[in-house]
Amino acid sequence: MLERVLQQIDHDLPASLDRLFALLRIESISTDPAYRDNVRSAADWLTAELAGLGFDASVRPTAGHPMVVAHDKDGATGPHVLFYGHYDVQPVDPVSEWKSPPFDPKLDVVDGRKRIVARGAADDKGQLMTFVEACRAWKAVGGGLPAKVSILFEGEEESGSPSLVPFVKANAEELRADVALICDTSMWSRERAAITMMLRGLVGEEITITAADRDLHSGLFGGAARNPIHVLTDILARLHDRDGRVTVPGFYDGVDEVPTEVRSLWDTLDFAAASFLGSVGLSEPAGEAGRSVLEQIWSRPTCEVNGIVGGYTGEGFKTVIPAKASAKLSFRLVGDQQPERIREAFRAFVRKHLPADCKVEFADHGGSPATRLPFGGPYLAAARAALTDEWGVEPALVGGGGSIPVVGDFKRELGMDSLMVGFGLDDDRIHSPNEKYELSSFHGGIRSWARILAGLGSQA
Ligand code: BES
Ligand code: ZN
Repeated sequence: MLERVLQQIDHDLPASLDRLFALLRIESISTDPAYRDNVRSAADWLTAELAGLGFDASVRPTAGHPMVVAHDKDGATGPHVLFYGHYDVQPVDPVSEWKSPPFDPKLDVVDGRKRIVARGAADDKGQLMTFVEACRAWKAVGGGLPAKVSILFEGEEESGSPSLVPFVKANAEELRADVALICDTSMWSRERAAITMMLRGLVGEEITITAADRDLHSGLFGGAARNPIHVLTDILARLHDRDGRVTVPGFYDGVDEVPTEVRSLWDTLDFAAASFLGSVGLSEPAGEAGRSVLEQIWSRPTCEVNGIVGGYTGEGFKTVIPAKASAKLSFRLVGDQQPERIREAFRAFVRKHLPADCKVEFADHGGSPATRLPFGGPYLAAARAALTDEWGVEPALVGGGGSIPVVGDFKRELGMDSLMVGFGLDDDRIHSPNEKYELSSFHGGIRSWARILAGLGSQA
């Protein structure tokens, strides 16, 4: 049966691509309220697709953007899996840097390889459609699904998933499965699949520093008046020492060294730091001294300034001492670092360095701890075998630098582990202009899920 499913996938690829393009045309930017109806359209579109495949599918309202929940009606036996993906996307700016319009998907050919170019192509519409299309193929050949499948699609992942935990809590019985399948991560390389075993956590903070009660003339007051941009940049500059370590007291509490088994596993991966950085126009690792690039992105915590505003930034020139300056920061967490403790430690650090006459306000942009999955169990074994069959080489067991907080939420709220298998590549430009997903990722991804479902089914 599996052979017929795989043939069906190959045969149906052009139609699968058409369906993905239809989803990519929907401008589902979750963070911008102007796109609220578009986000809803993407949820409706997915619900209709899943209903057409014989799922009991519905759009489920939340305080924010809706969830899509679907349960296969075939009554398959075998383990119960919950597939999770997100149908929202990041904003497209700077839009002028896109070579083709972000919501008008194109199939481009670069170095003889075909790629799907559009916002969301890789993160995460292309990836979630690999699973939907795998289900379609199983059903098309008359086999039904080899495992009991439920699906949860979220529309707020790119804006911090504010409704996810309340929704999971309120629908725990309905959503609980034996294992969650998540397709929102990367491959090891174009030819080798990966299973992601650990991801970093995240803390988002925004700080605003104010000094005088109005903008001031920088000649009249300059030299005497406190400048909040100077105060802000001084504090931001103090956050790292010369070796790239974060200086906030207590920041490294709960940060462990990578266990030797994991480190030796990583040593077998032929990670090319030079080409990783070279692919984005950089040459020198800028993180913590004495750590490999792989460690810097997978197993070390960070503090990054993501944006900074203050004073006059318009055309021309204005001699002003502004009344306020602000910055947005994110911390990537590892090990047992606690998001709320990191937030408090950061706030205490800022207050400590705040001079007289300045005030600071903080805004909380959410947080989630790091994720580590157990190296073992039947589902991981089934996925490893299936991916080996598809790609002809064992999948790499990797870490990842990004954050997928739902993994921790599923564990905490439902006691459910996740299996993270994704087909993105490091050069997919997720969150950047000209995002792409390789056709080989899409095609190989569909075939991989078809095989993983078969493997999970035989676990029954
Ligand atoms: N798919 C990414 C996370 C990711 C990227 C995992 C690359 C592994 C490799 C996800 O959509 C994402 O961007 N998440 C945000 C976090 C969210 C809370 C805003 C992130 O990591 O910044
Ligand atoms: Zn994503």
